[in-house]
Amino acid sequence: MTTSKSLKGLFVAALVASASAAVVPRSTATNNTTNSTQLPLSSDDSFSYELLRTASLSRSFGADTGEVLQAAGSIIPGNLESFSGAFNKLANHVYSQAQAINATLDPVTARNAFFRASTYFRSADFYLHGNGSDPRLTTFWANQTAAFNSAIALLPIPGERITLQAASGNFSIPCIYYRAEGANATNLRPTVILGNGYDGAQEEMLHATGFDALARGYNVITYEGPGQPTVRREQNLGFITEWETVVTPVVDYLLSGARPEVDGSKLGLFGYSMGGFLAVRAAAFEHRLAAVFAVDGLYSVFEPYYNTLEGQVKDLWDAGNYSAFDAEVNYYLDSGMAPTETLWSLQQGVWSFDVDTVSEFLRKAEPMTLDGGLAQQVTCPVWIGAPSEDIFFPNQPEKVRDALRPGLASYNYLTAADAAQNHCHVGAMDRVNGLIYDWFDNVIANRVDRR
Ligand SMILES: *[C@@H]1O[C@H](CO)[C@@H](O)[C@H](O)[C@H]1NC(C)=O
Ligand SMILES: *[C@@H]1O[C@H](CO)[C@@H](O)[C@H](O)[C@H]1NC(C)=O
Ligand SMILES: *[C@@H]1O[C@H](CO)[C@@H](O)[C@H](O)[C@H]1NC(C)=O
Ligand SMILES: *[C@@H]1O[C@H](CO)[C@@H](O)[C@H](O)[C@H]1NC(C)=O
Ligand SMILES: *[C@@H]1O[C@H](CO)[C@@H](O)[C@H](O)[C@H]1NC(C)=O
Ligand SMILES: *[C@@H]1O[C@H](CO)[C@@H](O)[C@H](O)[C@H]1NC(C)=O
Ligand SMILES: *[C@@H]1O[C@H](CO)[C@@H](O)[C@H](O)[C@H]1NC(C)=O
Ligand SMILES: *[C@@H]1O[C@H](CO)[C@@H](O)[C@H](O)[C@H]1NC(C)=O
Ligand SMILES: *[C@@H]1O[C@H](CO)[C@@H](O)[C@H](O)[C@H]1NC(C)=O
Repeated sequence: MTTSKSLKGLFVAALVASASAAVVPRSTATNNTTNSTQLPLSSDDSFSYELLRTASLSRSFGADTGEVLQAAGSIIPGNLESFSGAFNKLANHVYSQAQAINATLDPVTARNAFFRASTYFRSADFYLHGNGSDPRLTTFWANQTAAFNSAIALLPIPGERITLQAASGNFSIPCIYYRAEGANATNLRPTVILGNGYDGAQEEMLHATGFDALARGYNVITYEGPGQPTVRREQNLGFITEWETVVTPVVDYLLSGARPEVDGSKLGLFGYSMGGFLAVRAAAFEHRLAAVFAVDGLYSVFEPYYNTLEGQVKDLWDAGNYSAFDAEVNYYLDSGMAPTETLWSLQQGVWSFDVDTVSEFLRKAEPMTLDGGLAQQVTCPVWIGAPSEDIFFPNQPEKVRDALRPGLASYNYLTAADAAQNHCHVGAMDRVNGLIYDWFDNVIANRVDRR
C-alpha cells in the first residue's frame, strides 16, 4: 500500500483548509478560496461550516444562536461522535422544554421549541452516515420528524404532509405544503417548490428560505427525492440523475386543482446546494416552471470531486481500476489523517447514493451533469448563486451561466462583502433570499430588474 502522501490531493480544498487550521491564520492559508475574516466556530473547517449552517437558522425559528454556540463549545475538532453527542443532548433538552409547554395555551412557545429541537436532532444525525446500520440514523430521524410535525401543526396555517407518486410508480415523494396567509381560490399566489441537496432535509428548507417565501405571500411546498433523508431511509433509494421524475409530480400536484390558491403560471423551483444541479436538470424537462433558483449553480456533480484527484489515485480512476482506487481511498480514510470534510463527504456520498464504495458513488455521480445539451433545454429564467468561497463546488456557477440559452441566466457573484461567501450563503440568507425573491417578483411580473 502506498503512503497517504499520494492521496493528499484527494480533496485539496479540505486538506489545505485542515492543515491551515492547525498552524497558520486562515486569512493567509488558502489564497483566494478562503481569505475572508469570518470568525470560525471550530478549528475543524467542516464543523465550523455545519455549526454556522445550524446557527444561521436562528433568524427563522430553526435554532437559537447561544444554544448552538454552547453545543459548539463541547465539540472536539475531528471527533464526529462529539458533534453528534453535543447536539443529541441539546435536542433532548429542548424537546423536553417543548413537551412541558401547554401547546393549547402557548402555541407559539411550543412551536418554536419543537422547531429548534427538530433542527438539533438533524445536526445530531449529520456526521453518522459512515455506518448505515447505526440505529441512531433511524431514531434521530424519527425524533426530528416528530418534533417538526408537532411544530408545523402549531403554525397559524398548519403545514400538511402529503405523499406523491413518481409516474413510474416505483418511488414516492414526501412533501410538506404550506399555504400562504390570505391565499385562496380567488386570491391566487405564486408558489415556490423547495428542494435540498446532498445531505439536507426538506425540513431545513422551511427555515433556510420557506419562511421568507411565506412572508412574501408565496405558497410553499418542500419535497424530497431519492437519496435525500427520508426517501433514502424509508424506501432504500439512492440519488438518481433523472430529477425531473421527482419534480414533475410536484408540479402536476400544484396544477391539479388540489390547491386552488396556487397560481400555476407562477411556480418557482429552488435547489439548495447539490439541489442547484438537480433543479436545473429537472427544468430541462419540466417546462411549466416560471423560474429556477440554483443556490448555487452546479453544472456537474462529479467534476468537483474529480478535480481534486491527483497522483496515483487519479491514475487509478482514469484507468478504471476501481478496486485499487477504493483500496487507496479506504486506506486513507481509515488512517485517521483525512480531514473531516473529506471523510464526511465521501461517507455521505456512499450512504446517499446507496452504494458500498466510493468508486460506485463517483460513478453514479458521473452522469449528473448538464452536458449533452441539457442546459439548452431549460426555457425559464434561472437565478444562479455563486459564492466566492465555496469549498465544495468552485467554478461551477459560471459553467451553468455559460451553458444556458442567452438571456436566461441571472448570475449573482456574492462575496464576503455581504458575508455571503460561503457554500449556500449560509449565515447570509436574509440578504440572499431578498435578492432571489425580489428577482422572482420581477420575473413573474415581466418587469425589468429593479436593482
Ligand atoms: C497561493 O498563490 C501563490 C501565488 O499564486 C501560489 O504560489 C501558492 O501555491 C498558492 N497557495 C495555495 C495554498 O494555493
Ligand atoms: C489570489 O491570490 C494571489 C496570491 O496571494 C494574488 O496575487 C491574486 O491577486 C489573488 N486573486 C484574487 C482574484 O484575489
Ligand atoms: C392545556 O390547557 C388547556 C386550556 O386551558 C386545558 O384544557 C388542558 O387540560 C391543558 N393541558 C394540559 C396537559 O395541562
Ligand atoms: C455499524 O453499526 C452497527 C450497529 O450499531 C454495528 O453492529 C456495526 O458493527 C457497525 N459497523 C461498523 C463497520 O462499525
Ligand atoms: C426518539 O425516537 C426514539 C425512537 O422512536 C424514541 O424511543 C425516543 O423516545 C425519541 N426521543 C425523543 C426525545 O422523542
Ligand atoms: C423506476 O422505473 C423506471 C421506469 O421503469 C426505471 O427506469 C427506473 O430505473 C426505476 N427506478 C427505480 C429507483 O427503481
Ligand atoms: C379570498 O381572500 C380574499 C382576500 O384575502 C378575501 O377578500 C376573500 O373573501 C377570500 N375568498 C374566499 C372564498 O375565502
Ligand atoms: C489495479 O491496480 C492494482 C494496484 O496498482 C494492480 O495490482 C492491478 O493489477 C490493477 N488492475 C488492473 C486490471 O489493471
Ligand atoms: C481575498 O482578498 C483579496 C484582498 O483583500 C480580495 O481582493 C479578494 O476579492 C478576496 N477573495 C475572495 C474570494 O473573496
